[in-house]
Amino acid sequence: MKDFVIIGHKALTSGDFSLNDLPGSAGRMDILCRCVNSALFLSHGMRRDVNVHLVLQGEPDPAKVVRFNGEKLKYLNPDERSSGSLIKKALEKDAIEYETQSTPGVYIRRAGLEQLLNEFSEAGRDIYYLKEDGEDIREYSELNSDAVFILGDHMGVTEEEEVMIDRVAKCTLNIGPISLHSDHCMIIIHNELDMREA
Ligand SMILES: C[S@@+](CC[C@H](N)C(=O)[O-])C[C@H]1O[C@@H](n2cnc3c(N)ncnc32)[C@H](O)[C@@H]1O
Repeated sequence: MKDFVIIGHKALTSGDFSLNDLPGSAGRMDILCRCVNSALFLSHGMRRDVNVHLVLQGEPDPAKVVRFNGEKLKYLNPDERSSGSLIKKALEKDAIEYETQSTPGVYIRRAGLEQLLNEFSEAGRDIYYLKEDGEDIREYSELNSDAVFILGDHMGVTEEEEVMIDRVAKCTLNIGPISLHSDHCMIIIHNELDMREA
């Protein structure tokens, strides 16, 4: 599996938001919705070997992790309202220490970035931090198809989060010289891995 982690600094941690206002009342949930779509959708199908972990850090009850699992996922269409609706359904469940499935392939639990990073690290996974001043991904030959990629949202990654990530990351990678949207970065990472696997 490839795993994408996206940090939603303002993303609401209750289901009390309108699908008509994902950028506003839901705390830039639109960014996370686009990430879900970019990480999972193909032209005619879905990448079944991908997990997307949304780290929700906004009010009123941070932090929670919503995981989309491509292998089991159902009822996701390629528009923001669709992913937003599945996130909302997940947030309507009680978030406990262990994952609860809200709809097929969507899970919620109470956890934050540090816990997620520690779990990947303990599992021996290669963790990559995506940052504009990292090493060029195209020059990086060790990248394998079961890597973990960590990305920030519109606010980037805080200094405190960066310390946590640097502690476990194998490498910091850039996918180009210009700062891009997180969901666009995911497409480029996929493309890079697709080219290597082809
Ligand atoms: C919209 S950017 C963050 C911009 C934010 N204003 C900042 O200054 O950090 C969102 C995330 O995408 C990733 N990203 C954007 N451009 C990138 C690039 N050229 N190389 C690697 N990662 C990139 C980073 O993880 C970044 O935190």
